[in-house]
Amino acid sequence: MPSDLLDRILMNPRVPRHVAIIMDGNGRWARKRGLPRHAGHWEGMNAVREAIEGACATGVEILTLFAFSTENWKRPRSEIDALMRLLQVYAEKEREQLARAGVEARVLGEVERLDPAAREAVRQIENATRGGSVLRLNLMVSYGAREELVRAARSLCEQARNGTLDPESIDEEAFEGALFTSGLPDPDLLIRTSGEFRLSNFLLWQLAYTELYITPSLWPDFTRDDLFAAILDYQQRERRFGRVAAG
Ligand code: IPE
Ligand code: IPE
Ligand code: MG
Repeated sequence: MPSDLLDRILMNPRVPRHVAIIMDGNGRWARKRGLPRHAGHWEGMNAVREAIEGACATGVEILTLFAFSTENWKRPRSEIDALMRLLQVYAEKEREQLARAGVEARVLGEVERLDPAAREAVRQIENATRGGSVLRLNLMVSYGAREELVRAARSLCEQARNGTLDPESIDEEAFEGALFTSGLPDPDLLIRTSGEFRLSNFLLWQLAYTELYITPSLWPDFTRDDLFAAILDYQQRERRFGRVAAG
């Protein structure tokens, strides 16, 4: 599908390496249509496809999607079940297509909390797509940033107690290495759909200097062009990282 926005992005060499998205608004999308909330989650699968295809077209290297938070476990059981089922169906339906497109999918979060069928789906999508070199796709599932930071602290403390790590040597790099996103560059651009201006416990460490973009679109309505619009906006930003402006 030709896109004027895509052409404009590609004229600028400054494409974000890593884009993260808080995929929000599925419930409101469904309510607007008089449908149950899970209908919005299912519809959101098309938007996931759009985001992946759009990321591949622009040259984004890493796409990190917030699919299910630690706090989302507090939702009604029926909604959690629908979301777990959706994860399984997504993994089964899409893994070959993702592998063909060169997408390497990883599921990051407290995967041990998922039920066995969902865990098996995670294993299969990771195995089927291992080695893909076009796009790294992180699906954040049962993920909460505070939990991630606590885990990292615990893991470093254990290494110190075993004598394999000198506490004096703990620096930002060592801490980063204990996070789920270990080894990946921080997101350059964070997109949140549905017009909410908050982080909802997403990537609190990694977003320190990320550019933020909020769109009113509800996640199931999100298209490639919404991604392109966000990237074009990013290309106009001046990132200073605490220094003074260049020139
Ligand atoms: C995002 O949509 C999906 C998840 C959080 C799992 P919501 O389900 O939060 O939809 P709204 O925000 O209630 O509209
Ligand atoms: C954030 O959305 C989590 C995901 C998109 C998976 P929520 O809908 O759970 O966040 P709040 O409750 O509006 O902050
Ligand atoms: Mg929400």
